[in-house]
Amino acid sequence: MERQRPVALVTGASRGIGRGVALALGGAGYDVVVNYVRDADAAGKVSASLAELGVRGHVSRADISVAADRERLVADVYDTFGRLDLLVNNAGVGPKVRADILEASEESFDHMIGVNLRGPYFLTQLVANRMVVRDRSGVPAPKIVIISSISAYTASANRGDYCVAKAGLAMTAKLFAARLAGHGINVYEIRPGIIETDMTGPVRDRYDDLIHNKGLTPIARWGVPEDVGRAVVAVATDLLPFSTGQVIDVDGGFHLRTL
Ligand SMILES: NC(=O)c1ccc[n+]([C@@H]2O[C@H](COP(=O)([O-])OP(=O)(O)OC[C@H]3O[C@@H](n4cnc5c(N)ncnc54)[C@H](O)[C@@H]3O)[C@@H](O)[C@H]2O)c1
Repeated sequence: MERQRPVALVTGASRGIGRGVALALGGAGYDVVVNYVRDADAAGKVSASLAELGVRGHVSRADISVAADRERLVADVYDTFGRLDLLVNNAGVGPKVRADILEASEESFDHMIGVNLRGPYFLTQLVANRMVVRDRSGVPAPKIVIISSISAYTASANRGDYCVAKAGLAMTAKLFAARLAGHGINVYEIRPGIIETDMTGPVRDRYDDLIHNKGLTPIARWGVPEDVGRAVVAVATDLLPFSTGQVIDVDGGFHLRTL
């Protein structure tokens, strides 16, 4: 019988970091469910790139902040592949406007929490319930990855809502790691620094200056989606089997305190 390829679900995989992660996993031999919310064409292109790598890319639309969409997404994964070996919670949004914490709106707070925290929290719950009842025969244990941010511990008072959501996501990784270890399911938090994507487009000049002229990151370059993709492949392919709840900084050393 032909050996089944492992299957990964990557949320928000139509562009940016999610796209980089999807293609890195494709390169490592994973079939990938390419979740997107609006840009169907871009998701289709990621799926075509996966086919060129010799794996299957299955496009699935779902807004991860909506419970019914999450249910449909997970059902689609299992209907299509009958299994899930890796969940990568990547989808996320920045605030529509970067507003001072003294003025920022409750509406923006709810939006940040809905997409960046409640969505991945309950998607992980849904998937974890499927993973714990899997058939264990001869299959490597599944894993869960949460893409958080340096904003989980870096206070930016002009986007407090985003920081609070990412800090909650860091705890989400610890909670599921603790709960799922007994089922052989490792959970990892991957914490990107400043990565060149559409999300950072509006602040490109400022970050360019900070990185290249002000020593913001010991490794003086922008991160690229492939940097995050490689970290995901490392944990997906069992290179850190005795680590769970682990934070993996993919930030050019931003987290170091230097003097
Ligand atoms: N770019 C950075 O510097 C950086 C740094 C740290 C963390 N991150 C995090 O990495 C993740 C990806 O960021 P990016 O830079 O690639 O951003 P991006 O804006 O380029 O891509 C985000 C993706 O998420 C999708 N998405 C947004 N809302 C969604 C929803 N409700 N349901 C499903 N999909 C949704 C978008 O359609 C898009 O495909 C985010 O969680 C972000 O917070 C980014």
